[in-house]
Order: sequence, then structure tokens, then C-alpha cells
Amino acid sequence: MSAVPMSQSPVFDLAPWSQNHLARVEQALSQWVGHGAPAGLGDAMRYAVLDGGKRLRPLLVLAAYEAVCSGTHGAQAAPVLDDDAAIRAACAVELIHAYSLVHDDMPCMDNDVLRRGKPTVHVQFGEAPALLAGDALQAFAFELLTPDDSLIPPAVQATLCRLLARAAGSAGMAGGQAIDLASVGLALTEDQLRQMHRLKTGALLQGSVLMGAVCGHAAATAYQALSDYGAAMGLAFQVVDDILDVVADSATLGKTAGKDAAADKPTYVSLLGLERAQAYAQELLVEAHSALVGSGLPDTRALAALADMVVRRSY
Ligand code: IPE
Ligand code: IPE
Ligand code: MG
Ligand code: MG
Ligand code: MG
Repeated sequence: MSAVPMSQSPVFDLAPWSQNHLARVEQALSQWVGHGAPAGLGDAMRYAVLDGGKRLRPLLVLAAYEAVCSGTHGAQAAPVLDDDAAIRAACAVELIHAYSLVHDDMPCMDNDVLRRGKPTVHVQFGEAPALLAGDALQAFAFELLTPDDSLIPPAVQATLCRLLARAAGSAGMAGGQAIDLASVGLALTEDQLRQMHRLKTGALLQGSVLMGAVCGHAAATAYQALSDYGAAMGLAFQVVDDILDVVADSATLGKTAGKDAAADKPTYVSLLGLERAQAYAQELLVEAHSALVGSGLPDTRALAALADMVVRRSY
């Protein structure tokens, strides 16, 4: 009888794993972001990035990196937490994400006043500083990936930059946001909605997984499986975001609930209804798990647990 794949093992406890890895990410972000920026720009950058957020994208980078390392060094190897490339990649995706939130909340986009339980950046600092904070965070993400005097091989640096640029740009987040804004008041087909969600949110989540895989020098089969995992989990994330906008309250979410319906945005809930949207998120979770099982990697438990968290979260 074959062994139960470790990705499906019930014994993995995500909480201590996350705590350990989040401490590294928080420390690195605080050390790196916003220092020396002129005219209050650094304050707006730090406000946008620090003290809030689930940090799902950095955790995905680190979990993918460790999953790939588990294939190289064996499942029992101690996690390699001091790898410069993986920590830099983890922080870089979070900077792109934070920038996307700052701009997403601005009056010209979703016009939101609450984010991560605090006033949004443009409410706190003004619109022009918010725009510039987003610009500066985006640029700094790429600076972080290309350090001076680094031991990170130049080809790895270049690949990380390319993956992040693609996930953030017109083929990813920015493209999806353009579709989102152009779709207000429209009844999209399921294919159109899926494409919008894959781009605006899924691309950066999938990109996080792929960047972790590149840091661990993943072989082609594992890389493709992790890409499939990232696509399913990334889409599930935005389906659940649509659901939470309807079923959760603002205090729990740390952002204004009920905004999608109020702004007449097409969502999985508006298209399928609540129950079918929830069932679809579950289907995508199964897809994500089976991609992990097919990866051939000995220990994908953190990635599996993060996918569970994406679908079962309450905020
Ligand atoms: C919110 O992302 C924006 C979307 C892409 C739907 P998160 O729910 O990951 O936000 P934080 O980082 O935890 O605040
Ligand atoms: C935003 O989607 C996705 C981004 C690229 C920031 P939403 O507009 O649904 O995100 P929230 O609900 O404001 O966090
Ligand atoms: Mg939006
Ligand atoms: Mg929004
Ligand atoms: Mg939303």
C-alpha cells in the first residue's frame, strides 16, 4: 500500500510554522521599507506595509521554497530560513501587494476608507502621497530582488524580477484591475469573471509560489505542479474574497464589507449565488491539493495548509 502523501497529512500545524516565518518577514520589512525617503514618503510607505495584513503571499513564497528544498534535502531537513533570495522574494511580493491595495482603495478606483483596520493611505496622508507611496513600493520591490554584492545568482535575480513584473503588470494584477473597473454594472460570463479574477488577484498569488520555487531551484515537473497549485489556489482566494464581502462584517475584515454589491461589481456571488460560489471555492481547493500530490515533492504540507486557510478563512 502506498504511503499517504505528506501534503495530505493531518499532523501539520500551520500556526507555529506561520509564526516562525512571519517573524522573519515582519523583521525584514520593517528593516527595509521606507527609510530615508524624503518629504513624508517613507511614513506613507511604512504605514501601507507594516502592522497589518495576513502576509499570505510571503508565506506562499517561503512554503514553496521549502517544499522544493524538501525534494533536494529530504523531508526531514531543517527548513532553510536564512536564504536571502527567499526572504527578499517574500518581501518583494508583499510590497507589490501593499502597493496594489493603496491604489485599489483610492477614490478613482474602489474609494475605500478602511484597510487592515486603519484609515486607508489616501485618507491618512492625501491622494498624491498615496499614489507616490504605491509607486515607490512597486519600484522598491524590484530593488530588493537585485541587491548589491549578493550571493544570489544573477540568473535567479532576473527570473524573480520577470515573474514579479509579469504577475503585477498588464498580464496580471494591473490588467485584472483594468478589467474590474471596466466591468462595473456589467453581467460578465463565468469565463470573463474567471479571467478577471485570475489576473487581478490570482496572478500575484501564483507568482508568489513560482518565485519560491525559483529560489529553491525547482525541477520542471515540480515547477509545473506548483504553477497549477498556484493557479487554483489564487483563483480560490478571490472567490472567497467575493464571498467574505457578502457574509463578513467590516470589523472582522478590517475593510468595508458589502462594497461589491454597493459598487455594482460583478463577483462570484453575484454570478453564481452564495452556495455555488462556496462550492466552487471547494472545487478549486481540491484542484490545488491534487496538484501538490502530483508534484513529486516529499513535503508540501505548508502549501496544503495555506490553501486550506485561503478557502476556510473568515477574513
Ligand atoms: C486583499 O488581499 C485584496 C485582494 C487581492 C482580494 P488580502 O486579503 O490578502 O489582504 P491583506 O494583505 O490580508 O490585508
Ligand atoms: C482587489 O480586489 C485586488 C487587488 C489587486 C488589490 P478587491 O477590490 O476585491 O480587493 P478588496 O476587497 O478591496 O481588498
Ligand atoms: Mg478593487
Ligand atoms: Mg477593493
Ligand atoms: Mg474584494
